[in-house]
Amino acid sequence: MANQNLSNAKTAKNDEFYTQYADIQKEINAYLDYDPHVFRGKTVLLPCDDPEWSNFTKFFAQNFELLGLKKLISTSYAPESKNYKIPYQPTLFETVQPYYSPDKTKTHGKIFVLERDITGDNRINIDDLEWQYLEGDGDFRSKEIRALRDEADIIVTNPPFSLFREFVAWLMEADKKFIIIGNMNAITYKEIFPLIKENKMWMGNGFQSGNAYFRVMMLKEYANGVYDSETGLVKFRNCCWFTNLDHGRRHEPLRLMTMAENFKHSKHKEIRGRKEYIKYDNYDAIEVPFTDAIPSDYEGAMGVPKSFIDKYCPEQFEIIGVAEGDSGKELGLKPFDRELKKLNPSLRDGQLYYKENGIPKKPYARILIRKKQ
Ligand SMILES: C[S@@+](CC[C@H](N)C(=O)[O-])C[C@H]1O[C@@H](n2cnc3c(N)ncnc32)[C@H](O)[C@@H]1O
Repeated sequence: MANQNLSNAKTAKNDEFYTQYADIQKEINAYLDYDPHVFRGKTVLLPCDDPEWSNFTKFFAQNFELLGLKKLISTSYAPESKNYKIPYQPTLFETVQPYYSPDKTKTHGKIFVLERDITGDNRINIDDLEWQYLEGDGDFRSKEIRALRDEADIIVTNPPFSLFREFVAWLMEADKKFIIIGNMNAITYKEIFPLIKENKMWMGNGFQSGNAYFRVMMLKEYANGVYDSETGLVKFRNCCWFTNLDHGRRHEPLRLMTMAENFKHSKHKEIRGRKEYIKYDNYDAIEVPFTDAIPSDYEGAMGVPKSFIDKYCPEQFEIIGVAEGDSGKELGLKPFDRELKKLNPSLRDGQLYYKENGIPKKPYARILIRKKQ
């Protein structure tokens, strides 16, 4: 149900859900544990973040000195440009300023900069944020925000999910360091998977037990059990962090059993008691239906679930490819002939299959990996 609600949000292009402070803190701490100086002397850009709503801005502004930042820039998107029109009321924070404009407040984005102590308390913190209206609406694709991107060293945000592919391309074209939130399904997008395969992007440290709770503005599309009226939060199970900054968990190899140990002790009935792993008919690899059932002593290719990527340690495994659509065809998986499709009409070209009692069966989306020598 939670997954369903994320896809509902996608269909309706509702990008208005807001990340919790504790989730941001937990994630950023993982990079600091690995390298305490990761943010030192750096300019951080938060390109989808209005401090009135965004805990990203709050977190980085409050921890400006602790992180040793050089500059923090946070930009917001104009209310009238948003897909979802939420009843809009400028806050006192904005209206008390002499440069407040009743027109611009709806049609222009804003830029918030933190760089120096303006309150005179000898500290640089959230009280020193200075803001102005942007020339445009704050679209991350605009020339104005591109220039800020180019100025930044590290870009951090929960970007609009409906523009995730574009957002990643925007980061990559400027070759920036980033920490962003996205949908787990993005792993196999044809624009995203090659980046993961080439270790240009990987999963971040992660949400608490894989569950992410966001604050939302519009509740009508969230079913009971997904929206908690007490906390005002909506639960999305398939959200994750993507990054190209290192953290410790990424370098922790999976602790795995040998093939023989799996046959004897695996907790999965599909593996325990077997004499061998299933082999695919259209690719020289074994089918491994669970990440914790990857045999530690198998040297050849293995088809593993997509969720493996969250446990992927580049020193332990190499990624060969994803067996889906065009990527599967690039791996050399031949299109299915009529006979096979007659036996199993759900077969899709580019996917792996194996025969069970003469009937071709396809596993769920598989990523092909191989143990590193
Ligand atoms: C998923 S929300 C996250 C907000 C905030 N980063 C957070 O995590 O709390 C994404 C935000 O990006 C804004 N947005 C949508 N399209 C945008 C665009 N083209 N450029 C910049 N921001 C955009 C949305 O209005 C929304 O507020």
